[in-house]
Amino acid sequence: MRVLGIETSCDETGVALYDSEHGLLSDALYSQVKMHAEYGGVVPELASRDHVRKLLPLIREVMAKAGLALDAVDGVAYTAGPGLIGALMVGASTGRALALGLGVPAIGVHHMEGHLLAPMLENNPPAFPFVALLVSGGHTQLVRVEGIGQYELLGESLDDAAGEAFDKAAKMLGLDYPGGPLIAKLALQGERGRYRFPRPMTDRPGLDFSFSGLKTFTLNTANAARDADGVIDPQTMADIACAFEDAVVETLAIKCRRALQQTGLKQLVIAGGVSANQRLRERLDEVVKKERAGLFYARHEFCTDNGAMIAYAGCQRLLAGQNSDLTILARPRWPL
Ligand code: KG4
Ligand code: ZN
Repeated sequence: MRVLGIETSCDETGVALYDSEHGLLSDALYSQVKMHAEYGGVVPELASRDHVRKLLPLIREVMAKAGLALDAVDGVAYTAGPGLIGALMVGASTGRALALGLGVPAIGVHHMEGHLLAPMLENNPPAFPFVALLVSGGHTQLVRVEGIGQYELLGESLDDAAGEAFDKAAKMLGLDYPGGPLIAKLALQGERGRYRFPRPMTDRPGLDFSFSGLKTFTLNTANAARDADGVIDPQTMADIACAFEDAVVETLAIKCRRALQQTGLKQLVIAGGVSANQRLRERLDEVVKKERAGLFYARHEFCTDNGAMIAYAGCQRLLAGQNSDLTILARPRWPL
């Protein structure tokens, strides 16, 4: 079965064609990041309009790259939520209409299910069951995954998501949006140990997270480091970035280890934008070694939003006989 996947939940237009027998045939991505950077965050109306402009050309590009005509598509999967309503509507209505025109089924996919299953697109994918850490701009969750659609929430952030904390900390340091990759880059120049940030909620039992205190700690540290003109010297900036990243990574690592121990599972999957973080990957590598477990993640470009993960997740659900009928499904808030 060949499934066309469409992702438009936020600021990336992603399209891909996945074949259940031959794997990923082609994919294309257009990022709006530069446009939103000017405003320090995603502007919803601008996002919707840009998806409208880019989606059809990307669908054409993906089919051309695969060397196939549109009638080779057996099903259409689109991100139905969670996300920005206008942005979601573009993908949902286009996907649903395309499926109707082609006479094939369509399915609305949960964006976080897409992230969760993205490591399945790699060689040597994880096998069910496994523990998944979902870390994106909107979510921080630990999930026990038994199979497609069988998800048990083990813990989640009570306030900011990990990616959101990265973005906000970056803003405080005067860095652009999205700040995660910029903090990570700056942290490479940092002197580890000059500052020590708290590891929130690690001293009590349970698998929930809280990152809003870390944000306040970053703000206070940054303000204390400013000179009379309000400027922070470059080395101190890097030291703060390094201490912030360490605190987030260490907090995630402690909870991941706890989740592996609690469930007795031996596979840890990390997914979502923050799973692209090199320090997180290195630290979790140490954790899984200690727990005699395996670590799985997607290639860099499939950690952040993309069409391939939606095509894959949609294909699994369509193969299981599910579809979203003629509904144009768009749910800005939607628990996994
Ligand atoms: O999954 P994603 O592309 O979109 C959402 O579903 O939210 O995640 C985007 C988030 C942003 O907050 C971004 O700053 C963060 O992932 N991110 C990173 C890195 N790359 C992306 N955070 C830390 N280190 C990175 N290398
Ligand atoms: Zn995402």
